[in-house]
Amino acid sequence: MLRAASEADLGEFARWEEANSSGALWSLSDLQQEFTHPSSTMLVAVDGAALLGYAVIREMPDGFELLNILVRSDRRRLGTGGTLMQGIHERAGGQSVYLELRASNEAAAALYEGYGYMQVGLRERYYSDGEDAVLLMRLAE
Ligand SMILES: CC(C)(COP(=O)(O)OP(=O)(O)OC[C@H]1O[C@@H](n2cnc3c(N)ncnc32)[C@H](O)[C@@H]1OP(=O)(O)O)[C@@H](O)C(=O)NCCC(=O)NCCS
Repeated sequence: MLRAASEADLGEFARWEEANSSGALWSLSDLQQEFTHPSSTMLVAVDGAALLGYAVIREMPDGFELLNILVRSDRRRLGTGGTLMQGIHERAGGQSVYLELRASNEAAAALYEGYGYMQVGLRERYYSDGEDAVLLMRLAE
């Protein structure tokens, strides 16, 4: 099940980010900034009281940008990422969604491909460690 994230959830998200290596690597301060951003929506997937994963989408002049998605490491490959993608697309209301990811992030690339994202660009050596960023887009419906 999905719900809007609350400020009380952010500490747990930050702990997941600390233990992660392939996503946006947001700090608690990054999460707080995004939580209060007027154009951003933060969704959390829950199983009862347990938090499973979260995603953040921001409305931009030319569509929506998926800024982050993360499922806690002990609950992956159970459909939570897909549930979050569906919530994101519902929020985007049929408008285009774009994102960037590390070229080595095969799990995320497979997830996005399954939801109709296509590569629209490549930023060479975009990340500070020299890795390329792949730009993906899901066209407006
Ligand atoms: C990417 C991520 C959000 C996927 O979450 P998830 O809950 O495991 O995803 P789902 O269980 O809904 O998987 C849906 C589909 O995505 C693809 N997929 C997900 N993880 C995969 C993996 N490790 N390898 C290959 N395909 C994968 C599969 O097609 C999968 O369908 P299937 O299980 O029926 O084969 C998760 O791996 C994660 O949090 N990664 C770390 C953070 C990150 O890199 N975020 C992306 C930033 S751009």
